Amino acid sequence: MKAVGHRANLPITDPNALVDFDAPKPAPDARDLLVKIAAVAVNPVDWKVRLKFPVPAGETRILGWDACGTVEAVGASARRFKPGDQVYYAGALVRPGSNAEYQTVDERIVGHKPKSLSNAEAAALPLTTITAWELLFDRLGMARDGGKGQSLLIIGGAGGVGSILIQLARQLTALDIIATASRPETSAWCRSLGAHQVIDHAKPLGDQLKALGTPQVDCIAALTETETHFPALAEALKPQGRIAVIDDPKAIDVNLLKRKSASLHWEFMFTRSMFETADIAQQGALLDEVAALVDAGRLRTTLGERYGAINAANLKRAHAFIESGKAKGKVVLEGF
Ligand SMILES: NC(=O)c1ccc[n+]([C@@H]2O[C@H](COP(=O)([O-])OP(=O)(O)OC[C@H]3O[C@@H](n4cnc5c(N)ncnc54)[C@H](OP(=O)(O)O)[C@@H]3O)[C@@H](O)[C@H]2O)c1
Repeated sequence: MKAVGHRANLPITDPNALVDFDAPKPAPDARDLLVKIAAVAVNPVDWKVRLKFPVPAGETRILGWDACGTVEAVGASARRFKPGDQVYYAGALVRPGSNAEYQTVDERIVGHKPKSLSNAEAAALPLTTITAWELLFDRLGMARDGGKGQSLLIIGGAGGVGSILIQLARQLTALDIIATASRPETSAWCRSLGAHQVIDHAKPLGDQLKALGTPQVDCIAALTETETHFPALAEALKPQGRIAVIDDPKAIDVNLLKRKSASLHWEFMFTRSMFETADIAQQGALLDEVAALVDAGRLRTTLGERYGAINAANLKRAHAFIESGKAKGKVVLEGF
């Protein structure tokens, strides 16, 4: 089968950063689906793995953790899907990714594709949706329809995760949503997705929050550049507030939260698949619930840009764009 992968940790400007190659078609394990890939999205995890995780000698690692496709075969004990079903999922970090014609994936972390979306529109959603959902409901502990009279500050609102988190918070809670964006187009995007207010993460956050009349917030989703923003976020958090972090800060001073008895929560969307936690099937269930919300017109795709067919040349362009930190919604590639 056609696949795109990497054999070394190379900068995206290197011609061999990603290569087209021929890989054997995988066979599904007991709980797996074999999926024929139709479309994929690119996330920051793709370039981070490409640059930082050594590839075993002689291997070519297939990246890609967002896919939409059709089930071609199911493992002996898979029960939720049958051949021909259309699915969307992020997959597991510890298994080969979705930048290939076929992929095997544990059915418990797979959702039925929203019927009202095209393949590309659906591929934009899974990884960021799982992240945003788990952050909001499992880590910050927000109740469905809860949060009345409370505020949520989302740092990096127009990125992949922010674009779906704004929508989930707006549609499924009563929170007052303040998102950050630094450009006119990303600011307008955040508002169109449901942010009540947008402030600029390139300017001092505290002054802008005061100007909004919300000097302190109840919850913070620190999605991007947390290391830089953390002192201002600790300042902006109400006593007994909650902050959830998803990126890779090298050092943050958690003592800044002590005086306020504020809590820090990690969200890592690969935890459930990496450790096969007892509640791993929650990810398939939440993707199904989100598909129903999309088909009911309450949530929309976060597709921002189409980068053409799934091949090394187009994926290199997509990686370079995501590495720039300038994404508005998701970058998607479709077909081989
Ligand atoms: N833990 C997990 O499970 C998990 C899951 C998904 C992602 N992540 C990580 O979370 C981070 C965000 O992911 P993503 O997919 O949302 O990224 P993304 O789509 O690449 O984010 C792009 C956005 O970042 C904003 N941004 C750029 N510089 C910023 C700054 N200094 N402060 C605040 N925002 C800034 C940009 O807004 P403007 O253009 O308006 O400046 C842009 O819209 C990445 O590090 C990713 O690896 C973790």
